[in-house]
Amino acid sequence: MIDLHSHILPDLDDGSQSLRDSLAMARMAVDSGVTAMAATPHCSGDRTREVYAAWQLLREALKENGIPLKLFPGMEIFGTPDTARMLRDGQLFTLNGSRYPLIEFSFRSDGQEETWILRNVCKAGFRPIVAHPERYAYVQQDPKLVNCWHKMGCLLQVNRGSLLGRFGVHARETGMELVDRGFAAIVASDAHSPQIRTPWMEDVRRLLTEEFSPQCARVLLTENPRKILKDEEIPPVEPEWFL
Ligand SMILES: [Fe+2]
Repeated sequence: MIDLHSHILPDLDDGSQSLRDSLAMARMAVDSGVTAMAATPHCSGDRTREVYAAWQLLREALKENGIPLKLFPGMEIFGTPDTARMLRDGQLFTLNGSRYPLIEFSFRSDGQEETWILRNVCKAGFRPIVAHPERYAYVQQDPKLVNCWHKMGCLLQVNRGSLLGRFGVHARETGMELVDRGFAAIVASDAHSPQIRTPWMEDVRRLLTEEFSPQCARVLLTENPRKILKDEEIPPVEPEWFL
């Protein structure tokens, strides 16, 4: 499996608080069947140097400790009206330098400004991946919004924890529906620590296999993430639209 959303870099955000925790998270990911991971700390302003240095440091530490996890650079970008310009100017990292930036939004909003921001990012030549849309109340209440995001060319990333019910019944139901209707392009851990919100992915692989199909698990957990890291096109899907 390839996990494209993690807060594994130490001391940068509310994720890992030490190199020791980062290594414990990496070991846990590997034990659960993950071979590659994107490090995606929260970012809105220009933190490229800081993030790159932390990524290099952890990559070296993984090698020194013999942990077979490939680590790719990225960010979880907090979307603002400046995001499209900053991406164009190289002040924010996409996932492994691809056309795909991972973008999150405020939990207190109505989705209108978010749609405007995503449209501008698309117009700037990127394909935004919206982080955990199933966790936003405005998506749970009116999922038709994702029809619009999909038509604009956005991809959706659903959290492992949402599907497992860790963020409540609404996030679980919305997450399952996004997978079921074909809107979800990837499922990722959004791991924050080795204790809670962990990078363990085997349980969600099993859930996707049992609730949907082995093919669904493979596409969302391995094939699409691999294409994203290689900056390849994700095959277009016609989802079952929300009416
Ligand atoms: Fe995150």
